[in-house]
Amino acid sequence: MNYENYMELYEAVYFFDRINCCIDNKFLQPINKEDIERLGINESVYNAILRILVVNNLLDYDGSSFMITKENMEKHQHILDNIINKDPNKQYTELFNKAINESQFFFDSISESEYEIYSRCDFPITFKIGKEVVKHINLANSKVLELGGNSGGLGTALLEKNEDCLYTVVDTKIPCIVGNEFKKLNNLNITFIEGNVFNLILSSEIYDYIIVMNLLHDFDDIKCLNILSNCTKHYDSNTKFLIIEDVLTGEFEPKEIIMHGLRLSVECRGGKQRTKEELAKLFLSINYGIEKTIKLNNVHTMLVMGAL
Ligand SMILES: C[S@@+](CC[C@H](N)C(=O)[O-])C[C@H]1O[C@@H](n2cnc3c(N)ncnc32)[C@H](O)[C@@H]1O
Repeated sequence: MNYENYMELYEAVYFFDRINCCIDNKFLQPINKEDIERLGINESVYNAILRILVVNNLLDYDGSSFMITKENMEKHQHILDNIINKDPNKQYTELFNKAINESQFFFDSISESEYEIYSRCDFPITFKIGKEVVKHINLANSKVLELGGNSGGLGTALLEKNEDCLYTVVDTKIPCIVGNEFKKLNNLNITFIEGNVFNLILSSEIYDYIIVMNLLHDFDDIKCLNILSNCTKHYDSNTKFLIIEDVLTGEFEPKEIIMHGLRLSVECRGGKQRTKEELAKLFLSINYGIEKTIKLNNVHTMLVMGAL
């Protein structure tokens, strides 16, 4: 059998085998709350597993229910026997244990030195995305607030193009320390504010743009709404929100994005990838809607949100 070498696929097969919730070879969708509790995982993880299996032809979906065929089962067994059961480090078990941990949140589970490494590595990645963003948005003379902007890679790319832009990043302590180092090196005027997006304490000024990149997907809907309501004092009807993340174009596409969904939902309990429509629904709560959708690269889409 020839499978693409996707760790994420094997993880989905392992999870599927562990939850063992097959009912007459049919999986009901949406799963009800009791079943989720019985499984120990949450709905985001459950949906991510099913999506990965469907896009890899290891589970069939007929538009209303999921079905595992004999052929699918044989493929699952092959992966279990030849890859998962030969894993000496028990990495699949470790990941599953994280998934059933009520409070798993990646940034609370890493050490300070891991947080620092993350923040150093995040800079060039977000800088590269920023180089794409500036092709589409003119931030000249703008006041910009970025929530969860880590060490400021995105902001650096945006400021290199628009030096007169006033750019503020809110993040936790370690990304701000690393960000201030990069800021000195690059001689750019980014303000790093150590803060909490769930309890935003900033001088009450209105921004032209509020940028949120790869942050909403870490949280459930209630927490996302909490983040948006924390912004209330900082936007008016002229403010645009720029949401940049791995937006899904449909329940089962695109495949390269779907593949990251399980790890994301395991690392951040309640976190999930969302479709454009799901993000639009969140923003409706603050009377904002999607004005533009811009595909930045294979993974990231930017939604420009404006007041309705
Ligand atoms: C998934 S990372 C995204 C980082 C960067 N925007 C990117 O696209 O790579 C989430 C960021 O949010 C920050 N973060 C998480 N919880 C936060 C909170 N409660 N308040 C402020 N920042 C937070 C993390 O430190 C991290 O930098």
